[in-house]
Amino acid sequence: MISGAWYKATVAGPDDRSIDTVRTVAEVRARVGAWRAAGDTVGLVPTMGALHEGHLSLVRLSLARAGRTCVSLFVNPTQFGPDEDLRAYPRDEAADAARLAALGADLLFAPGTGEMYPPGDVTEVSVPGLGDCLEGEHRPGFFTGVATVVAKLLMQVRPDIAVFGEKDYQQLLVIKRMVKDLDIPVRIEAAPTVREADGLAMASRNAYLSAAERAAAPALFRTISAVAGQVAGGADAGETAAWGEGLLLKAGFARVDYLTVRDAETLEPVDRAGRPARVLAAAWLGEARLIDNVAVQAGARKGHRPA
Ligand code: PAF
Repeated sequence: MISGAWYKATVAGPDDRSIDTVRTVAEVRARVGAWRAAGDTVGLVPTMGALHEGHLSLVRLSLARAGRTCVSLFVNPTQFGPDEDLRAYPRDEAADAARLAALGADLLFAPGTGEMYPPGDVTEVSVPGLGDCLEGEHRPGFFTGVATVVAKLLMQVRPDIAVFGEKDYQQLLVIKRMVKDLDIPVRIEAAPTVREADGLAMASRNAYLSAAERAAAPALFRTISAVAGQVAGGADAGETAAWGEGLLLKAGFARVDYLTVRDAETLEPVDRAGRPARVLAAAWLGEARLIDNVAVQAGARKGHRPA
């Protein structure tokens, strides 16, 4: 049902709201240009679709902070490794558009791969240091893929603000660094992690969990929270992280890629609480690789260690 330069994805719902979808850089620039000419500020929420409550919280933040909100939907092939799940990545654009329309987002920018990476496109953005450790170590090339596509989206849409979730904490730091280093005129807004009732951080890849894995998954948040509590109370970060890894394995996780306490800005390892710190972890439950992180609340009392 494509008509003219963009089409409307109609929402099934009592208010029958709809959202315009555009697929080219020229179209998104024209729409954003018209908003600006009318005096509106613009928020961008970059996503890879398969929208859940976590994404919707980013959209709500943008709607609260900017006059107009554009959500991008692009499953970016350059941030998937050769053994990763690009083909299987969940896709349902119609359902995503309906959710966005119901929230009152203004525009969906859903370019194809040819629009984002036309033939001859070779330039990449990399963020050494912050982008090399943790996720960068386990998923080589991942942050170059993320930084490159986000730089392109920021220059295509030219928003005043762009919203990213703290769930992907390292990604947030990498993007903030890139924006600062490249003098991209945008303010990066961080939105807190949205969790299921049992603590599991919402993520598109949670869809890969079997019922038994889903039941075990909240141990990740429980464990990093316990580690954060211990470290805040003065425990040695390395020893406590090793204890946390043991807990995860006992809870049914097959492998722990990392569970570590890092400086909240530089991601350098910390020994003890003192400066702002973060506990970050990535661990495997069956085929699903879950990541999560929490802040170390300095000055908190040391909790007791569960067996
Ligand atoms: O967090 C994501 O969904 C992606 O990494 C992002 C920021 C949309 C870039 O493709």
